[in-house]
Amino acid sequence: MPLPRAILDITDPTNVANLVSQHQPRAVINCAAWTAVDAAENKSSACWAANATAVGFLADACTAHGATLVQVSSDYVFGADRTRRTPYHESDPPGPLGVYGESKLAGETAARRAARHLIIRTCGLYSVGDAGPVRGRNFLDTMLTLATARQPLRVVNDQVCTPSFVPHVATAMLGLLAADAQGLFHLTNAGATSWHGLAEALFAAAGITADLTAIPTSRYPTPAERPAYSVLDTTAATRILGAALPDWQDAVAAYASGLKRAA
Ligand SMILES: NC(=O)c1ccc[n+]([C@@H]2O[C@H](COP(=O)([O-])OP(=O)(O)OC[C@H]3O[C@@H](n4cnc5c(N)ncnc54)[C@H](OP(=O)(O)O)[C@@H]3O)[C@@H](O)[C@H]2O)c1
Repeated sequence: MPLPRAILDITDPTNVANLVSQHQPRAVINCAAWTAVDAAENKSSACWAANATAVGFLADACTAHGATLVQVSSDYVFGADRTRRTPYHESDPPGPLGVYGESKLAGETAARRAARHLIIRTCGLYSVGDAGPVRGRNFLDTMLTLATARQPLRVVNDQVCTPSFVPHVATAMLGLLAADAQGLFHLTNAGATSWHGLAEALFAAAGITADLTAIPTSRYPTPAERPAYSVLDTTAATRILGAALPDWQDAVAAYASGLKRAA
């Protein structure tokens, strides 16, 4: 059962303990987080409270009631190795570049306090709801909005990762949970691209002609540095699930057809 912040504020340990005790769930899937990557640089205590300290509260409550804690983590625990150009395994040493990545890494450590835990690192999430783009906040939604407004789009082509479609990741996450997988797993769509490559594929799938230009990150400075390469190796999850998630291009096509259905 999804619990919004108004019912469960994960930074309140009493609230967490009471809710887990009341519902006696078999698993708690923590999707809540501080995700404002740039704002985190100046609001590190709020970011840390939600992404790290609160995960410890969830871990303790899960342990007390025999529930599995599923903690959603991020490819942004990597990036400090600026020369890396091969997919990261779960066993690779992490190295975040900013406060958000550091807090997500601390969240993984906190999640390990739960006697039963499943930590899922994923990347570049996007989805589409029944009524159209979800909250209009993901990269694809933003690209469509800007393209529809006929604005020229300059998108970086030197940050490479695997953008991932939430329904694909969520289904696989439930598959790992059903298989009683424990520990740390990487879970993304297959393949890799840049944000520019993603925008190009989106416009092709949605049948939109956009004024799109590739630029280097140096021409789009942000308060928080992003990884130049954060592709995650998903072999461990694939072994348990029996198949890899669909290629990222197929995921973009699924998003685009979801948009058409919602229109
Ligand atoms: N988006 C990505 O590209 C991406 C990539 C890799 C990993 N992740 C991870 O995936 C998970 C979901 O990310 P997302 O992009 O869906 O995030 P999102 O759209 O920013 O949603 C985060 C949710 O957490 C809620 N929340 C924040 N603080 C809370 C608190 N103290 N108590 C209860 N709820 C709280 C927010 O509630 P309000 O609506 O009230 O603010 C919001 O509903 C996060 O763990 C994130 O780190 C995301």
